[in-house]
Amino acid sequence: MPHTDTPQTYRVKSFGCQMNVYDGERMAELLAEQGLTAAADGDAADLVVLNTCHIREKAVEKVYSDIGRIVKDATEEGGSAPLIAVAGCVAQAEGEEIMARAPAVKMVVGPQAYHRLPDMLKAATSGARVTDTDMPADAKFAALPKRRRAGPTAFLTVQEGCDKFCTYCVVPYTRGAEISRPHADLIEEAHRLIEAGAREITLLGQNVNAWTGENAKGQTIGLDGLIRELAAIPDLRRIRYTTSHPNDMTEGLIAAHGEVEKLMPFLHLPVQSGSNRILRAMNRSHDADSYLRILERVRAARPDIALSGDFIVGFPGETEADFADTLSLVDAVGYAQCFSFKYSPRPGTPAATMDDQISAEVMDDRLKRLQDALNRHQLAFNQASLGRACDVLVERHGRHEGQWLGKSPWLQSVHFMAENGVTPAIGDILRVELVQAGPNSLAGRILG
Ligand code: 5AD
Ligand code: SF4
Repeated sequence: MPHTDTPQTYRVKSFGCQMNVYDGERMAELLAEQGLTAAADGDAADLVVLNTCHIREKAVEKVYSDIGRIVKDATEEGGSAPLIAVAGCVAQAEGEEIMARAPAVKMVVGPQAYHRLPDMLKAATSGARVTDTDMPADAKFAALPKRRRAGPTAFLTVQEGCDKFCTYCVVPYTRGAEISRPHADLIEEAHRLIEAGAREITLLGQNVNAWTGENAKGQTIGLDGLIRELAAIPDLRRIRYTTSHPNDMTEGLIAAHGEVEKLMPFLHLPVQSGSNRILRAMNRSHDADSYLRILERVRAARPDIALSGDFIVGFPGETEADFADTLSLVDAVGYAQCFSFKYSPRPGTPAATMDDQISAEVMDDRLKRLQDALNRHQLAFNQASLGRACDVLVERHGRHEGQWLGKSPWLQSVHFMAENGVTPAIGDILRVELVQAGPNSLAGRILG
């Protein structure tokens, strides 16, 4: 397809966090509104949007190699290359460089500017190459189409950006300053998602628990107030939220975990390190003890809560003693699941130029030891669930005939067979007994 033809089909490929998944869905909705249709799996698309992530290593290299592969695949059999748009956080951070280095890219669009994709597309189909990396986000949401499609589990971005400036992190630079979307818009979007079939909504934000807004009575509320209001919508069965910062874990939000039945017993609360010295160097503004005290209060409100976190190993200056503090914290918490990463210097962040960067070998070794510990805890958590009866939200078919997959309240993957006279359907919430536990999933039996 020559570039000056209007594209008929699109593909959005999202990398990285759940907010990118949300943004990818919104870009797809925008393109659909312009009359484009999603390319079928395996088919070439006329327009490819690479919705990129810049949080860790090799992000930029990956984008260039993806672009190269897309062009090669499309042109190998005499076809023409698709229109390529680079979106997301790499676009924000490296837009000019991408335009200079990759002639195949016709559009570069930042995470706060993608509502302008339709206009950019018009310009690109007239032969122009366009970049839009404007901030901030407030105009974006209002300009997006209404939600019309949703699976049983849906994401809803309530807050974007970050003012915390952890010294390793690019988010404050790529996503911009913290903004909370207005309450009324969120209630409206939640209703639309539920009408479209969502049974569970995960509220998203880089600092989701910093969300604040004004309710219909003009009162200022926090995330707990929003959760309570959403919980009153009858067809919404489950609510989750991610990612939280320890400093914004308010009393009200902790209490909601004990009081709001639809709020699932799961909390993702990154700590990053167990060493107070490293936490200070990371500018985390909490220490290991204050973090553990928050978890104690959450557990007092909701004793069965499943805890999750993020860790970075090999932050500049991290000694073996600092790392031992991280392992102690992991054992003290007993996480249900976690994400763990090797520190990756991000251009423009303060930590990238700190002394005492840690060697790759040391990082590999620490990451392995940390992951061994985390896996041990994850398996123990899953094993402790055995014999429990719980609700499972059915999300999709399994790999085997008659097998189904869903999630427990504690966000564990559960697989089970259609039996006991029950024919599951996607979106059902079934009573299931957990009968077998592995490190990454559990087997369940429908209880009728
Ligand atoms: N290097 C490694 N991990 C990082 N994260 C954020 N920035 C970096 C970095 N420069 C991790 C943190 C954060 C998660 C989303 O990604 O653990 O919580
Ligand atoms: Fe990045 Fe820290 Fe903000 Fe999380 S709180 S997005 S790690 S700067």
